[in-house]
Amino acid sequence: MNAVENLGYSLRSIGKIRPWIASLKTLFIHTDFPSQRFQPCTMSMTMSRRALITGITGQDGSYLAEFLLTKGYAVHGLVRRASTFNRGRIEHLFKDVSRDAPNFQLHYGDLADSNSLIRILTIAKPDEVYNLAAQSHVGVSFDTPEYTGDITGIGTTRLLEALRTIGLPTRFYQASSSELYGKALTTPQNEDTPFYPRSPYGCAKAYAYYLTRNYRESYGMFAVNGILFNHESPRRGENFVTRKITLSIANILAGRQECLYLGNLEAKRDWGYAKEFVEGMWMMLQQPVPDDFVLATGRAATVREFLELALTEARIPFERTGIGKEEAYRDTRTGKVIVKIDPHYYRPAEVDFLVGDASKARSKLGWQPKTSLPELVAIMMEADLKLAGVQKA
Ligand SMILES: NC(=O)c1ccc[n+]([C@@H]2O[C@H](COP(=O)([O-])OP(=O)(O)OC[C@H]3O[C@@H](n4cnc5c(N)ncnc54)[C@H](OP(=O)(O)O)[C@@H]3O)[C@@H](O)[C@H]2O)c1
Repeated sequence: MNAVENLGYSLRSIGKIRPWIASLKTLFIHTDFPSQRFQPCTMSMTMSRRALITGITGQDGSYLAEFLLTKGYAVHGLVRRASTFNRGRIEHLFKDVSRDAPNFQLHYGDLADSNSLIRILTIAKPDEVYNLAAQSHVGVSFDTPEYTGDITGIGTTRLLEALRTIGLPTRFYQASSSELYGKALTTPQNEDTPFYPRSPYGCAKAYAYYLTRNYRESYGMFAVNGILFNHESPRRGENFVTRKITLSIANILAGRQECLYLGNLEAKRDWGYAKEFVEGMWMMLQQPVPDDFVLATGRAATVREFLELALTEARIPFERTGIGKEEAYRDTRTGKVIVKIDPHYYRPAEVDFLVGDASKARSKLGWQPKTSLPELVAIMMEADLKLAGVQKA
């Protein structure tokens, strides 16, 4: 019997026992709620692990949903109602997985609404919850400090308290941030570095960080913080500086934008690739004991370096003129000024330099970043050129 015949034989054998397996599934699979106990249900709904992602429509949520689906999870996502379409980053998952598929379901809810959280947790009964939802923009948090505190801070309390009330043995991931370190006291920053947040966003994340630890220590919950340094991708929000740079350059080449306006070019950040960071989130929830981890690349670059890498990637020849607020970048081919400083983008309190030390994640989780900064810039620039429908200069 050759390999093809062998395969055919195996498939026919499986075909013979399939009805028997199906009847076993119907007989023995039951759910946790008394009203649903011993209800017939399919293997895919009960055997696969279930995850709930808040912030599934965001950059990280969309990559995490993809990652968990490939791991065989049934993925539930909390989405908030918006008057504009907010599912662009996960739309393709509906095309791959039918809308009624039991392994991908969205539920309307909001981190401001405890009842919606209880309802969704009760329906989804997740083994793992990834709390990625937040008002996640540092600059905007200075304009909406109260709202940022309510969603990014208290929203985490609502979710943890809903889990505790229902009593599910769920593992909980909190999206903590390198903005906790703010005016960093030591460099590089690791899990033991003291916090010094410098924005309403950083303060709200600090509250959520401590609350997650508190629920772990008070109630024995498997609740962990991933302290993630900046991570970017073509799905990054358009008003975050890296994406703003790559999208604006593409739009300038397409003739849709004259100039890119930026704030502090000397701010130094540790930028990684979001797709790699979501895997680290999952790894944290697979540990035997709950613990907090930093994820970072360990390399820092200024906004200026990112900008110049992006201009080079788009093949725009440039020269710098002026200093401070008068500084500008000129396209030497066209003579046009294409980048200017706008002090409007300076923050009331700046975070000048963050760089992470992820050695604990490397040794305990086996996690490490693979994409270099020039590679990341190339991925983002390529995607935005495609989006704008233009070629490199
Ligand atoms: N990306 C980074 O570099 C980084 C670094 C450290 C930590 N973090 C944190 O990691 C998480 C994910 O980051 P991200 O870059 O993916 O952020 P993002 O793209 O801004 O996504 C934020 C998500 O939260 C949702 N959301 C906002 N307010 C909500 C509310 N009231 N109720 C329910 N959902 C709400 C948004 O929904 P809409 O789509 O409807 O707006 C979106 O899905 C965030 O908590 C962020 O603060 C990010």
